Amino acid sequence: MKIDVLTLFPDWFDWFRRQRHVSNALALGHSLEAIDLRATTPLGAGQVDDTPYGGGAGMVIRVDVVAAALGARWRADPVEGRGSRRVIALAAGGRRFDDALADELAVEEEITLLCGRYEGFDERVHEQLATDVVSIGPYVLAGGELAAMVICDAVFRKLPGALGHESSPIEESFSAALGGAPEYPHYTRPAEWRGHGVPAVLLSGDHGRVHEWRIERSRRRAGEGL
Ligand code: ADE
Repeated sequence: MKIDVLTLFPDWFDWFRRQRHVSNALALGHSLEAIDLRATTPLGAGQVDDTPYGGGAGMVIRVDVVAAALGARWRADPVEGRGSRRVIALAAGGRRFDDALADELAVEEEITLLCGRYEGFDERVHEQLATDVVSIGPYVLAGGELAAMVICDAVFRKLPGALGHESSPIEESFSAALGGAPEYPHYTRPAEWRGHGVPAVLLSGDHGRVHEWRIERSRRRAGEGL
């Protein structure tokens, strides 16, 4: 998988690329590149934004700036380029990111993430350049960079081998194996801590009962909305 992130803060991703499951994925041949939107701006002095038509506070990232960055990256027309790859604009008002969308993205060959800043993108970026507009939650961030990292994190850990041990992502929160429910509780040593023990079934060595207990607790958590 190849992920390109278009951002005004490419340095932010240096730290992210060093994190274990990301560096594992990169070592396996996947790629994550952060591309500076200012590097290809057709405007002078590294300008990327402008005042909103109709007035109001804040600045809006220009569609021609994003188009120039995509055109340079793909060496192709930026509107046509979205026909062969997922182009995701990050915005608070977009489709809510969830495990199902992470699964959907994990099988893509190429994803481009567009990080907004200020008041976000000119609407024509969403309409003409992106294939999706995605939000990581109902709150407003200062920009799309952290949202891009959340998406990359969730998607990279689904790639075979990225976690270093294959079974982990199978039976985890919101997975099909748990019927979309949150994961069951985990316990490890010590078996007793300040008078708080561990459910006896987990110490029983009976894998069938352990499995039943886990499914039951996962369903209970779903019911409780935890
Ligand atoms: N940009 C600003 N807020 C955001 C959010 N909640 N999700 C994705 N991108 C954003």
